[in-house]
Amino acid sequence: MSAHGAPRTLASHPVTGLHGTADIPGDKSISHRSLILGALAVGETRVTGLLEGQDVLDTAAAMRAFGAEVTRHSPGAWSIHGVGVGGFAEPENVIDCGNSGTGVRLIIGAMATSPITATFTGDASLCSRPMGRVTDPLAGFGTAAHGRAGGRLPMTIVGAADPVPVRYSVPVPSAQVKSAVLLAGLNAPGQTVVIEREATRDHSERMLAGFGAEIATEDTPEGRVITLTGYPELRPQQITVPRDPSSAAFPVCAALIVPGSDILVPNIGLNPTRAGLYQTLRDMGADLTFEDPREEGGEPVADLRVRFSGTLKGIEVPPERAPSMIDEYPVLSVVAANAEGTTVMRGIKELRVKESDRIDAMARGLEACGVRLEEDEDTLIVHGRGPGSVPGGATCAARLDHRIAMSFLVLGMAAQTPVTVDDAGPIATSFPIFEDLMGALGAQFSEMADA
Ligand code: S3P
Repeated sequence: MSAHGAPRTLASHPVTGLHGTADIPGDKSISHRSLILGALAVGETRVTGLLEGQDVLDTAAAMRAFGAEVTRHSPGAWSIHGVGVGGFAEPENVIDCGNSGTGVRLIIGAMATSPITATFTGDASLCSRPMGRVTDPLAGFGTAAHGRAGGRLPMTIVGAADPVPVRYSVPVPSAQVKSAVLLAGLNAPGQTVVIEREATRDHSERMLAGFGAEIATEDTPEGRVITLTGYPELRPQQITVPRDPSSAAFPVCAALIVPGSDILVPNIGLNPTRAGLYQTLRDMGADLTFEDPREEGGEPVADLRVRFSGTLKGIEVPPERAPSMIDEYPVLSVVAANAEGTTVMRGIKELRVKESDRIDAMARGLEACGVRLEEDEDTLIVHGRGPGSVPGGATCAARLDHRIAMSFLVLGMAAQTPVTVDDAGPIATSFPIFEDLMGALGAQFSEMADA
């Protein structure tokens, strides 16, 4: 299945129980970073458990275009022969990052301080997303960006020939912006400093340290201050990619709302900057057990046992938790629709500039399925109908957004009548085995002929 093919309409039918083991693919954030940092190291980095979703495959192709040798040996096992910090070659052609905001923003950062020019594009979703959030701080290094109105792709980046380091306070909580600035700082003299008021996922910091960069993080009254020293020699690594907690969220949430379910999700990443959903689900009364907590490849992991949890209760999600569960609000809103009482999600306006406007996408689809809700620019409030009480029966728009498509398919599993998504294709960007994996647990999907 391709992320770029003709739209594929898929219905998800109500089921009576999900059972078995959910082997989730590799973490998307860590997979992108493995390829990019591998390309910036001198020598051969080896990766196992790499996510082979379209987003990551597009980043692999981009790294080849910048001169790295990237080889797939067997499923999930890849090697990257890097060119070293400052060693990127000028690509001969336009770089197509497909659907991936993480891919394009990190790669722009990684090439921004090399004396080369590159042009980036993507699909309709990516070409509608703001790039100014990365090109503004990169201008401080001396990097020029020429894009469409509103700082949109396609965009040409002219790398700084003589970069100066920056000190940048990130105005929105964004790991992509933080990471783009840090990657640019690798090929600048002196110290590049990034300050974030709210902590976002810290995979870049952990991995840069693992590759041998000098990087320090300090929690101060101003926020988290990250200082990177330029011109390190990055040493190649052996990386084991943990399984993606954001992908695991779909079978986990499904098991919580489909009566009789009991599933095991082995080896999932539980980095605290990513684990907000799991705390939130517990606050709602979910039966989750983390077994055998341990560390793998510098990241905390555990095996997660999930059982159907009867009546979950609506809660107010603490807004300060948003950065640690930013990708999980769509599927949380599905759980909220099946809970009793009201779930209030505030401080989430970043959802409006993801692969789609995720507040609007979820609100319109949930409403069509019989769920009452309220929204404003920064908030989604879902009035739960209680377990098994969502009518369903609608066709919801996926809007080129993998997480929207998967969320509505989860909704259908616990609804009174099937829920259909107008295009399941985008799921391949992050979770290419979603349908097979969920089917093996007991989900029932059927393809619909195009209307
Ligand atoms: C990501 C950061 C987040 C997240 C995205 C992955 C990353 O985006 O939504 O799926 O790997 O750095 P923002 O930086 O826009 O918050």
